[in-house]
Parts: sequence; C-alpha cells; structure tokens
Amino acid sequence: MVQLSQLISRTLQVVVVFIAIILALFYSSHKPADPMADPKQSPKPWADGPLPLVKTPMYQTGKDDVFTKGASHMALLHNAILRGYNTIYLQAPHVKPVDYADFIGYSLTWFNFVKKHHDDEEAELFPKVEEIVGQKGALAKAYEEHHTFMEGLVKFHDYLEPLSEQGQETQFNASTLLSIMDSFSEAFCHHFHSEIATIAALSETKTDNKDLAATVGPVFSKWGKASIMRAGLTDVVPFLFLNFDRTAEEGKWANWPPMPAPIRWGLVNVGGFWYSGWWRFSSCGYDGKPQTLYALRE
Ligand SMILES: *[C@@H]1O[C@H](CO)[C@@H](O)[C@H](O)[C@H]1NC(C)=O
Repeated sequence: MVQLSQLISRTLQVVVVFIAIILALFYSSHKPADPMADPKQSPKPWADGPLPLVKTPMYQTGKDDVFTKGASHMALLHNAILRGYNTIYLQAPHVKPVDYADFIGYSLTWFNFVKKHHDDEEAELFPKVEEIVGQKGALAKAYEEHHTFMEGLVKFHDYLEPLSEQGQETQFNASTLLSIMDSFSEAFCHHFHSEIATIAALSETKTDNKDLAATVGPVFSKWGKASIMRAGLTDVVPFLFLNFDRTAEEGKWANWPPMPAPIRWGLVNVGGFWYSGWWRFSSCGYDGKPQTLYALRE
C-alpha cells in the first residue's frame, strides 16, 4: 500500500509539473529583482564560504574533452552541495524558532541529496567509468574519501531527522548542529574538490582514444540527468536549482543543466511549491541569482 500511494503521489507530481509547463508557455513570470545588491559583494557572508567552491576545469583550462566536461558538470553539482553546506552552517545560529521546522526540512533535503549523490556514484558512475577507461581503481581515491566523512554526515541526519519526525523542531540547537558539521567539514571539503581533479586528470591520459571519448561522454551526462531526476521533484530538484548560481564563472553555466526554459521554470516554481517555506534558506532565488541569506537579512 505504501508503494501504491508513493506511486500515486509521484504520478501526481509529474502531472502537475507538466501542467505547469503548459501554463509557463502562456505566462511569463516577472519576478521583481532582488532588492538587495549583489550578495557576493556584500560584507555579509554568502554561500561561497566557509567551505570554498570548486572552479570547473572547463573554466580553468579552457579544454572541452569528455573528461574535462564530465568533471566540470560534476563540479557544478558539487558546488550546489558546498553552497548547501554553507547556507546551513551560516544561517543555523540566526534562524528564528518559528522557522526551525522549515530550516530542518531544508537541511535534511541537503543531506538526502549528498547521500544519494554518493550512492549513485558508487553504484553506477564510478564502476562504469573505470570499466570504460579499462583501469580498475582509476577512481579509488574518490571511493575511499567517501568513507572519511560519512560518519559525520550520518550524525547530521541522526540529529535532525528525529526532531522532524517527532515534531520536536523547537528543540533544535544550533550549537549542536554546528559542532557536528565542524566534525566532518575538512574531509568533506577536501573530497568535493579532489574528486573533480581526479576525474579531470583522466583527460591527460585518455583523450587521444576516440572510441573511449565517444562512450564516456554519454555515461557522464546520462548519469547526471538520472541522478538529478530520480532524486525527488518536490525536494531535491528545487534544492539543486536554488543552489545553482547562474551568475557563477561569468555566467558560463547560466543555462545548465540544458533544458527548455518552460521546463526549468516548472521544475523550480511548481516543484518548489510543495515545501516553499524551505527554500527561503537557499543561496539563490527563483531567478537563479544569488540572494542575501534569509536568516542574515535586516
Ligand atoms: C545547545 O547545545 C550546547 C552544546 O551542544 C549546550 O551547551 C547548550 O546548553 C544547548 N542549549 C540549549 C538551549 O539547550
């Protein structure tokens, strides 16, 4: 029965997203510009710290072979995760009790995405890439690193989930959450940077092989799409879009991931409708531009 109701709710979500796409074809949304100036230039901290973001190898090197591309797209996902960490870390001490429930919902969504991202990498992407490049262990470093922060990440979940499950959100204690986050931040940050370098490094040795290049490209892009779309249209998808900064790297990624504008609109606005209270805490607004962090306003 649980599965049936999940299926129905999922089908419903898909239907509503499609309706939104149709509507979006007829109406264009005019959101007022963020009244606050560029949050990246403001003296208030924004989501590009305390954990530094990754530069995409395409932006850094100007190369565009399959590995550099795969690593760059991975970097964009990683940056959404790093911005997620930063938004939680920076805002936790300033969240008002009335917003605890939404903040916990936002934070658990971040956890769900990180966990899912790793499970998908280990189960599908890494073995496939290693098989194609014909080098078992080519990504061993990335696997090993996953274990260096998993324990801390699970603590993060195990602290927040019961508060939410049992309706005890008022018991939320920012110092407890921050000390858990401090306990894994170093290994976590290291991994999200080093995996990009590990994948990009394959371009040094493997790109002269044309067949290989032709097979590995689709593997990355298919995995990326599936990993995002399987993740939950009402939670992880809006979380991601609202933490992809469309102005990053001089706007190079303004339209990433590539999709028709009405679909993007539907994913963010309609998908985001379910838990709209959560997304106040995201690093970017519905227009994909950086916004001053909600709990640090005024
Ligand atoms: C919050 O947690 C910290 C340490 O984790 C503790 O010292 C403090 O008393 C707690 N605050 C409240 C209000 O429970």
